[in-house]
Amino acid sequence: KQNERESLYIVINYAAEYYRDMLWNHADGKAIGLSYFKERGFTDQVIKKFELGYSLDQWDGFAKAASAKGYSTDILEKAGLLISKDDRFYDRFRGRVTFPIHNVTGKVIAFGARTLSNNKKQPKYINSPETEIYHKSKILYGIHQAKQAIRNGDNCYLVEGYTDVISLHLSGVENVVASSGTSLTDDQIKLIGRYSENITVLFDGDAAGLRASIRGIDMILEKGMNVKTVVFPEGEDPDSYSQKLGTTKFQEYLQEQSQDFIKFKVSLLTSEAAGDPLKKAETIREIVESIAKIPDPIKRTVYIQECSKILEIDESVLISEQNKILIRQN
Ligand code: UTP
Ligand code: MN
Ligand code: MN
Ligand code: MN
Ligand code: MN
Repeated sequence: KQNERESLYIVINYAAEYYRDMLWNHADGKAIGLSYFKERGFTDQVIKKFELGYSLDQWDGFAKAASAKGYSTDILEKAGLLISKDDRFYDRFRGRVTFPIHNVTGKVIAFGARTLSNNKKQPKYINSPETEIYHKSKILYGIHQAKQAIRNGDNCYLVEGYTDVISLHLSGVENVVASSGTSLTDDQIKLIGRYSENITVLFDGDAAGLRASIRGIDMILEKGMNVKTVVFPEGEDPDSYSQKLGTTKFQEYLQEQSQDFIKFKVSLLTSEAAGDPLKKAETIREIVESIAKIPDPIKRTVYIQECSKILEIDESVLISEQNKILIRQN
């Protein structure tokens, strides 16, 4: 088992180097992959920092190169780099730009790979499958490049996508990780918690996504961490918006728009419930649900006081509602 893990690290690292070599040195890599990154505003420096690459649009270009190096197709397949079909092996990431995913210590453990065509028939991103060294639910994209900055800034920005992480680095914001489009897990929250107990969630600017993310955030509160949020304009994500605003204005935007998550939730739900007493009652219950998740009783009291003001409802009502939930939880 230990041997297999070591072999997986070795072939994944080889693949990262191979794709990177294709991006910088192969005619197709330069014309297709590198130009793609340049069009997205990525600099040479940031492309190198994230070890981005390009997988040639060939059925088995990588498979052949890796076999010639002496790596067994068995281990290449176990690493998720090759797919076998009818006794033949194909490159999983062919014709895509590649984003290596690193573990905390900086070893490559998996890839995300983006298509360059706008052909909606194929998935935008293909990711490595779960392997002996890659457990999707335990890792966050960008953690290796971010950990020191998270500690220094005592805050971690959380975004959805690979390119959001990279564009934030370009904008001078290095304390950022991505959940890679799925909802946050316990292990991922604990991973951030090693470096800071403050998380700022950057929501993509669409209502559906917002609703879905809000539910996940109670889990962060449960861990005793402090949560802030920044919302982006409709149709923008942190990548597109930082590229649009430029470094200075984007950093200002993050500063100015950061607001406490619970206060944000109160104002969002209240505006949705405007003029509808039953909806308002439901809102109050939802908010108290969030507050009840916070382990620290002093923080809970402060939030109850704040929310009582904003919602124009007596503190005692919120407290008794909260106590009901706390009893139910224990
Ligand atoms: P998004 O659809 O927001 O993509 O998905 P994006 O990150 O903005 O990508 P660009 O800017 O179009 O290149 C957010 C994240 O969800 C995962 C990826 O990790 C992506 O970064 N995802 C999305 C997938 O794994 N597969 C997909 O087909 C789409
Ligand atoms: Mn590395
Ligand atoms: Mn999205
Ligand atoms: Mn996005
Ligand atoms: Mn995007």
